[in-house]
Amino acid sequence: MKLVFLGPPGAGKGTQASGVCQKFAIPHISTGDMLRAAIAKGTETGLKAKVFMDAGKLVPDEVLVQMVKERLSESDCVNGYLLDGFPRTVKQAEALDEISKPEKVVDVEVPDDKLLARLTGRRVCPACKGTFHITKLADEKVCPDCGGELIQRDDDKPATIQNRLNVYHSKTQPLIDYYKNAGTLCEIDGDQAPDKVFEAIEVALGG
Ligand code: AP5
Ligand code: MG
Repeated sequence: MKLVFLGPPGAGKGTQASGVCQKFAIPHISTGDMLRAAIAKGTETGLKAKVFMDAGKLVPDEVLVQMVKERLSESDCVNGYLLDGFPRTVKQAEALDEISKPEKVVDVEVPDDKLLARLTGRRVCPACKGTFHITKLADEKVCPDCGGELIQRDDDKPATIQNRLNVYHSKTQPLIDYYKNAGTLCEIDGDQAPDKVFEAIEVALGG
């Protein structure tokens, strides 16, 4: 199964990815997570990417295409992949078609006003990679899964979030038509409880 998760910042792509990857036995490839790992390691790519990410802008296409090309050539991708956050521009989508054409593109949509609340309240665990929301946490500093210290992502500040939403609408939303034309788009209402979103994705992917 070659899958792409499309959708605005905070739509729940990362939240839904683990269940879907388990079901289809495919790796979860989040380009945002890969870039954050590069920043944490202090690599050249990471240092360059940080400037764009902190401003809520897209990292240049060439960097992302090369990164994804290398990742998809690894042995765990033989049975497919779930790409979360790539492609984000028509150029990236055209490049992916050359590298490995996706079979299904799941577009999780949520209205902008709901996304702001989701992102400002998001907390992540650097230790176990869990993602949470402050409204569901007993202590907003402690990971309920592993006890690690929860942090807020650098780009989850209100001004940066607004930029990320603007970039999504101008650069990434055109991919909805791109994949509609390719006949691979599945539209999912992401503005419902996480388990309902998962059920809708399962149905769209054939149960
Ligand atoms: P990336 O890390 O991909 O961020 P994003 O696309 O902005 O998406 P998010 O990770 O913020 O949201 P999500 O949909 O995963 O939501 P989540 O499940 O966490 O990219 C970051 C940056 O990297 C980009 O801005 C760019 O600079 C760069 N980049 C990455 N890929 C690139 C590319 N291809 N090209 C160029 N640049 C690139 O959920 C969010 C919150 O909502 C959580 O608190 C969660 O608990 C909660 N939640 C989830 N589901 C629900 C639900 N159903 N109901 C209520 N709350 C929910
Ligand atoms: Mg994510």
